[in-house]
Amino acid sequence: MYENEPAFFETSPKPGVVGKPLDRVDGRDKVMGRAKYSAEYPLPGLTYGVLKTSDIAKGRIQRIDTSAAQKEPGVLAIYTHENLPKLAKTPNDPDGKKAIGAPMGFLPMTSDVVHYAGQPVALVVADTFERATHAARLVQVTYAAEQPIAAYTDPKAQLFNPEKIQDGKADGYTRRGDARAAMASAPVKMTAVYTHAINHHNPMEPGATTAIWEGPDRLTVYESTQGVTRTQKALSTMLGLPQDQVRVITKYLGGGFGCKGSCWPHTVLTVQAAKALGRPVKLVLTRQQQFTSMGHREDQTQTLSAGATQDGKLLALIHEKTATTSPWDNYTESNSKIINMLYECPTFESHYELGRANVMTSTFTRAPGEAPGSFAIECLMDDLAYKLGIDPIEIRLRNYAEKDPSTGQAWSSKGLRECYARGAELFGWSKRNPKAGQTRDGRTLVGWGMATASYPVHNSQGTARVRLYADGHAVVQSGATDLGTGTYTVMTQVAADSLGLPPEKIRFELGDTKLPTAPNSGGSVAAGTVSSSVYMAAQDVWERLTKMAIKDPKSPLFKAKPEEVVMEKGRLQLKKNASKGEDFKALMKRAGMDDIEGSGQGKYGAGYEAGQSTAAAGDAHKDEAAKHSMHSFGAHFCEVHVDPDLGTVRVKRWVSVHAAGRILNAKTARSQIIGGSIFGIGAALMEATARDPHYARYTNADLAEYHIPVNADIPEMTVEFIDEHDPFINAMGVKGIGEISMVGVSAAVANAVFHATGKRVRDLPITPDKIL
Ligand code: MOS
Repeated sequence: MYENEPAFFETSPKPGVVGKPLDRVDGRDKVMGRAKYSAEYPLPGLTYGVLKTSDIAKGRIQRIDTSAAQKEPGVLAIYTHENLPKLAKTPNDPDGKKAIGAPMGFLPMTSDVVHYAGQPVALVVADTFERATHAARLVQVTYAAEQPIAAYTDPKAQLFNPEKIQDGKADGYTRRGDARAAMASAPVKMTAVYTHAINHHNPMEPGATTAIWEGPDRLTVYESTQGVTRTQKALSTMLGLPQDQVRVITKYLGGGFGCKGSCWPHTVLTVQAAKALGRPVKLVLTRQQQFTSMGHREDQTQTLSAGATQDGKLLALIHEKTATTSPWDNYTESNSKIINMLYECPTFESHYELGRANVMTSTFTRAPGEAPGSFAIECLMDDLAYKLGIDPIEIRLRNYAEKDPSTGQAWSSKGLRECYARGAELFGWSKRNPKAGQTRDGRTLVGWGMATASYPVHNSQGTARVRLYADGHAVVQSGATDLGTGTYTVMTQVAADSLGLPPEKIRFELGDTKLPTAPNSGGSVAAGTVSSSVYMAAQDVWERLTKMAIKDPKSPLFKAKPEEVVMEKGRLQLKKNASKGEDFKALMKRAGMDDIEGSGQGKYGAGYEAGQSTAAAGDAHKDEAAKHSMHSFGAHFCEVHVDPDLGTVRVKRWVSVHAAGRILNAKTARSQIIGGSIFGIGAALMEATARDPHYARYTNADLAEYHIPVNADIPEMTVEFIDEHDPFINAMGVKGIGEISMVGVSAAVANAVFHATGKRVRDLPITPDKIL
């Protein structure tokens, strides 16, 4: 299965276990039940918190009657907006949100105002979970309800054009050249409208917090988060505590997909309850509460227009997005970024329109922006291909961007052509019938579709620490998180090769703010940044040991020049004469050292050649890196079978080929791409949260009615990677694959459905009613 292991680049770390399909180092602990998740710490005096949430979506709380609940056995406290301790700073403060880094500019239970259904209105703490759950049901809330707005599609929703669409990170309006004029004179014009249902992340492990205070100003939180540091910053700001007095621990995570990328209200409320009660409090969201507690992918409409030549060359792209946002924030996914960079096109224009509704703030959902944005551009390219009678791969090659059209920068690397070619070969694309609705297997309609994927390498940096012991093992640490996708495993591999030790001699520790700071496991930054940090920290150790050796008259390397010394399988030796050197253990033993520590920083743009020494990437290299646009690329190929009478779509074959720099583990990477593709197939065919237009409440907030793919929905999937050496992105040449696996997936499915049926469905998910 892994015959396609990526080739190893010649430069450091030396070829070893990096890239190999190493089994998960944490796999055994997980299946044995030894891996502790954030709600699984049996602390002395632990109490159980359960949220009571609002049934109405807009209005005020008139009265909360807790008397019946208070009388129940085991109930320790009931917190509401009336008795919860005040915070030093809340996201409700006009300038508070940015300082706090909380995802939502509103914190529930700070007043009697209700802004969305499912908003926490009380937190019941009891000595058992069952008693807290029962008591929460007895809390009586009387509301003065008002008519809510459920979505931007509500005629009463006031639409506005935001200048910034997410915390000042992206422009609400982008313009490159004169797209309107180019469109007006284009020989071929197309416009289409794409809608996307509300999607919820639904990780297997719901949001969970265990908060323990030691005295009034020291807090430890076991939190189900994609980033311990970000949660630490948010909590310390809100509580008014120095950052180091808030410790956040996340040893294992049962998925996140973006919803655990920020610090949400239930975490803050649990921390406050624990403080008020003076006992540790654990709170786990129910599956239903998960739908109203940690964001979602917003309901949205995109209108995409393209102008092109008769031979399919793009001349203009105009993108408009309208979406629902919350009463306070301007968050919306920035769909237009990928549309602006994916193909060579001389002109581009995008703008956003948002409608405030009584919903919580939506948030990053796997490939935020790129996933729905790629649905629009990749369906449109397919339409253009059929209209002009050009093969869908051929039309993409005719518009192949040799540099990033959105910035004019050269790519740091781009293996997309190879992805198309290899994917087409694996899939058998050349046998495709160019006409839609013409291929059958018995009475079943058969369709083939493909789409391009891309995701940027985001600017990020992190740190790691290596402690190498003289007995030949090492502890390697970085405050990163493992979403379940393999951070423990790949960092063990990187540390092993960087230290010249076998992986079983490495213990990699993560998920604790006491460790060196690492970025969120989000935006596909963790693999590249943390692996580079680990590599640089190991380099720091070798540099220290080299300095010792060349000063040690007993060392064979005495008086050698540092630049002449290399590490080979734990041995320091002369580059030009391998026989002259010694094992690090001998060197350390002579010096009477039990261990030695090094630390290192993994930096965006601090490229791989420059990463040969612990010195930060030289300025020349940094300048060179800054001139480049850094993205991973890929291509998905899909075969669907459509029942012409029932309208059901079955995905029958799947091929994904990606070029994402160095692949750290052939097995976990393949699993990552499979997982992301299944996530995308879910969005394409099944996933939709229904928000009642009158009450603004979700009507299918559970996994019985919110449909996701199960094994029977997914065929055998073929995943490959293109060997790609990127000299600019980071010291390990790793681009990351968490997000890109989802990009283009729904378009590949929709394009296959069109090929099968001749019917273009632009409204996700593609349920049978839309096909018939
Ligand atoms: Mo990713 S959507 O930043 O977890």
